[in-house]
Amino acid sequence: MKNIKTNWICFFLLSLLSYQSVSAQIPTLFTVNTNESKAKVSSSMWGVFFEDINMGADGGIYAEMIKNRSFEFYEPLMGWKTEGKSIKEGDFLILNRKESNTNNPRYLRVELRDAQEGNVGITNEGFRGMGIKDNMRYDFSILYKQQTGNLKMHLELLNSKGEVIGAAEIKPQLTDGNWHKQAVSFKSTATELKGKLRIWFEGNGQIDLDMISLFPEDTWMKRPGGMRADMIQLLADMKPGFIRFPGGCIVEGFDLATRYQWKKTVGPVEERQLIINRWNSEFNHRQTPDYFQTFGLGFFEYFQLAEDIGAEALPILNCGMACQFNSAEVVSLDDLDEYVQDALDLIEFANGDVTTKWGKVRSDMGHPKPFNLKKLGVGNENWGPQYVERLKVFNKVLKAKYPEIALIFSSGAAPSGEKFDLLNKELRAMNADIIDEHYYRSPEWFLENASRYDSYERKGPKIFAGEYAAQSDKTGSPNNKNNWKTALAEASFLTGLERNADVVIMASYAPLFAHVEGWQWTPDMIWVDNLQAYGTPNYQVQKLYATNKGTDVVSVVSENQIVAGKDGYYASATIDKATNEVIIKITNYSATAREVAFKVDGVKKLATKGFNTYLSSDDLNNMNSIENPQNVSPNRKELTSKINTVKTILSPYSFNVIKFKMS
Ligand code: AHR
Repeated sequence: MKNIKTNWICFFLLSLLSYQSVSAQIPTLFTVNTNESKAKVSSSMWGVFFEDINMGADGGIYAEMIKNRSFEFYEPLMGWKTEGKSIKEGDFLILNRKESNTNNPRYLRVELRDAQEGNVGITNEGFRGMGIKDNMRYDFSILYKQQTGNLKMHLELLNSKGEVIGAAEIKPQLTDGNWHKQAVSFKSTATELKGKLRIWFEGNGQIDLDMISLFPEDTWMKRPGGMRADMIQLLADMKPGFIRFPGGCIVEGFDLATRYQWKKTVGPVEERQLIINRWNSEFNHRQTPDYFQTFGLGFFEYFQLAEDIGAEALPILNCGMACQFNSAEVVSLDDLDEYVQDALDLIEFANGDVTTKWGKVRSDMGHPKPFNLKKLGVGNENWGPQYVERLKVFNKVLKAKYPEIALIFSSGAAPSGEKFDLLNKELRAMNADIIDEHYYRSPEWFLENASRYDSYERKGPKIFAGEYAAQSDKTGSPNNKNNWKTALAEASFLTGLERNADVVIMASYAPLFAHVEGWQWTPDMIWVDNLQAYGTPNYQVQKLYATNKGTDVVSVVSENQIVAGKDGYYASATIDKATNEVIIKITNYSATAREVAFKVDGVKKLATKGFNTYLSSDDLNNMNSIENPQNVSPNRKELTSKINTVKTILSPYSFNVIKFKMS
């Protein structure tokens, strides 16, 4: 009792103190001038960057639950365990038919002699286990070939104790020696984070197996063989203006042989040739030997996803150079044609009518209507004169045939320095449409560079802030955290992008996804395990920007100066001509609550009631997690205005989005 009383007295005194410290201040005045549109905010301003890193595609948004479904990993049985009392040498064989099927050469042959339960089986471990949901339907399918035999396959979903939590059987129908597909669906009886699939065989004969596949029913838009709905929903909730894909360094490859080749990712899934994922062995601290790209998700699916969630599709293609942090292999200029042709064909794939070669491929995959591609990137984090030489060829050919497609060229891996300066000069001399800048820097860098674009050249190429993330430790370090400090620094920096929307036309945080047990790179915007996904504080910042975009930039000043760091304030403002709203974004990067006033000029009448949607945390180390996904998440409070002025108190370390209707 005594304790409770003491606590109350402390609370009262603390409240009084903090009230006095706020009320003693003269509110800082910010003036917003809604009369003059300083720039249009591009409709695709805030987007997302997707790369198959951290198990982003396989084991991530691609909802396939079987790892190494077609036995093409270096170790053909990686992810699988063969088991049973009566197995003899050669009963399980990996066969290779490279000559007749280059794209999908391997398959598994199983020999059965009066097999019964427990005699002969294979178990797949999934991607760090399989996320199984109670009462969910699971769709199993398989390609098989048999000459003779009378056999059955028993399918069992197992929980982490090895107990059966869902079962079905499948009896291959045809014994004509040709490949056939057969499928069966069944329900699970429990939820499990780390499930497995066991297949045990019954009967006699020989059977060849390939493309052993298991998908949950609840994929995004319920598409068979589709994407994980909870992960995609987090993207859709952001209403991103664009999706950049497929990367990232994935575009470049460790060497040219492992570059991303979009043509190998379209058409029937079983004909898409798997390659090693370049993040498989990139970091000694996070080796991921079981990381491959099956391309079950390919360019068609990425275009379709963009369309689904109302985002522009933004593909980036290889420019004839492999990753310069790795092999740095370049294709000789004499052999560049194939790469340029890939770019030309991609535009045809996306936009060509169904009578064209690649338009027909799109149409045959179920999308006769064009995807309306508007922008295309050539090269990711490439640099040096070799890049410029190759870009010139792409630029000439692509502009001649498709002048309406805006081309995006990279300014390298860093936002300053010799490499950046060279490219910045050369790309401007080429009159590039859009330059892709990347910044993986400290939170302090983000704060100090909030006015980077205020002094940028207004004419010439536009800027795509194509990859950025504040690093709490250092780039590439496994100790980087998605904490509130990094997110607030990014929020502060982004006011500078928004203020300069005449120069910066697109921005995306990177990387996008990471599996809590399968990541190589941190920080990342969205983290997942096999059953759940959550947005980091950095995600919440991006989402607030993307969902409170506005149509026109207007000025917000304090003492006639832009608000870019003085006293820990960073601000930008837009108006939305469609909804007649003024939207003020402001961070209070300080440990104290502070009283501020916004005088909104240029309106007849500001609505008397508006809202502040804000993110705040006294502790800059605060993070979200699977256990506490909403730890740092938006709050909303009502604000009032008098004589077109809004007074409020900004919480310590807060990012605020203040919205009022105007008339
Ligand atoms: O986002 C992770 C990596 O960072 C990207 O693949 C690359 O473009 C950058 O270096």
